[in-house]
Amino acid sequence: MSSQNAESIRARFEAAGQGHVFRFWDELPEASRSSLLAQAEEIDLNELGNLAAKLAAGGSDDGPALEGLEPAPYIPHPRHGGDAEEWAEARRLGEEAIRAGRVAAFTVAGGQGTRLGYDGPKGTLPVTPVKKKTLFHVFAEKIQAAERRYAARIPWFIMTSHANHAATVAAFEDAGFYGLSADRVSFFTQGRMPAVGRDGKILLEAKDTIAMSPDGHGGSLRALVRSGAVDKMREAGVDTLSYFQVDNPLVRCVDPVFIGFHLRAGSEMSSKMIPKAYPDEKVGHFCRKDGKTVVIEYSDMPADMQRERDADGQLRFVAGSIAIHVLDVGFVARVGGGEAGSELPFHRAEKKIPFVGTDGEVIKPEAPNGIKFEMFVFDALPFAKNAVIIETLREDDFSPVKNAEGKDSPQTAVEDQLRQFSRWALAVGVELPVDDTGLPSFAFEVSPLFADSGEAFAERWAALAEKPVVKEGTVLEV
Ligand code: UD1
Repeated sequence: MSSQNAESIRARFEAAGQGHVFRFWDELPEASRSSLLAQAEEIDLNELGNLAAKLAAGGSDDGPALEGLEPAPYIPHPRHGGDAEEWAEARRLGEEAIRAGRVAAFTVAGGQGTRLGYDGPKGTLPVTPVKKKTLFHVFAEKIQAAERRYAARIPWFIMTSHANHAATVAAFEDAGFYGLSADRVSFFTQGRMPAVGRDGKILLEAKDTIAMSPDGHGGSLRALVRSGAVDKMREAGVDTLSYFQVDNPLVRCVDPVFIGFHLRAGSEMSSKMIPKAYPDEKVGHFCRKDGKTVVIEYSDMPADMQRERDADGQLRFVAGSIAIHVLDVGFVARVGGGEAGSELPFHRAEKKIPFVGTDGEVIKPEAPNGIKFEMFVFDALPFAKNAVIIETLREDDFSPVKNAEGKDSPQTAVEDQLRQFSRWALAVGVELPVDDTGLPSFAFEVSPLFADSGEAFAERWAALAEKPVVKEGTVLEV
């Protein structure tokens, strides 16, 4: 970088009241200077200025206000009164789109996995009961299973973060892309936001390092555009994106029914819901406000509202978001491209952020001292035309790994997979000892390449000339 360039960047920071970022400039070696300038260049000072102004004004989080919130309507699953004909029609439409190569899979995998305490990209966490396949491996096999079934190419886009990009790509390379063809898989890094103190000033975590963190999964829309992923999709004839989080081994990565409902409605962004398991379950809530679909996070909805019941005793805000969406690529291009009026708000999280004091010493605060900013992908819903929500069955689509132990942990994810495999096996007459939650007394495993649904299992099983004995450690593969 030329010294002229460096001067102009420093001057812009000075003018924006952020000149302290270069406080240690004179003592920094050349390499540190370049690295600091590169970080500074990532920052949109206008955007940060607006956020800091709101902070200074004592403004609260930008999430939607709660008055006038209504539960969002959704299309019920046939098991709960939905129209089976309609579901079959949606499936046909979705299958047609997949066969035509219009659908890509998209995983957001840039999170820091702080709650899990796992050292490595979350997608490399082993999750299956017997073979201990990783999350990425499971998704890769599900995508491959869909490619085979529909004789289609299904490109897979994976969003990483600065912190885990290299490790994520290395994991795929080491694993031979888990059997997928490498040219189908694209990685790109999400954006970052600087952390600020309560005064809106950028925090330094070292003399040459700005405290930066990923800009939230909502940052995926910008990153899809910026990274060229949207152009790549368009070139390949992909107009529909199947979005899911890296933490959910049960997710149907490419679900024809869901895709079909999305296309049938001419929707720009669709979502899957499940009825909450209990009032305080930590999921977002699908709501309607001023005629638009919104998600209100568990942390933003007051407990009494989360527990509210209607006349039948049902939870009023029952529709839990499991962070599975279908997005129209044109919509991603618009919102991610920064179309005026459809900017995603930033949510604020108060955190303990180690920082460098004026004397250059690193201070580790005991209490939250700063603010991190994140965008949430579901905040795009109010901008989407014809947003559709369909119900799915928890046991077939959702068992997230969030915590090291207890609820939503690797243990519960293994158990939920075992229950799913057992349901499929019991349905074709395999004898299995299961408890009253459907959990078998031993571990076995079904690869998505053997079967990725109950129907697929029944078909594969019927076609086997010799039926294997399902016992401890059995793995049904390929
Ligand atoms: C999230 C949703 C919640 C939903 C629940 C379902 C939010 C704010 N809430 O909760 O509505 O009910 O999942 O499981 O998202 N990620 C990135 N980059 C980031 C931040 C996150 O890629 O900067 C990815 C993570 O890798 C992960 C996903 O987003 O795949 C979820 O992030 P997390 O912060 O764990 O969300 P939750 O609070 O669990």
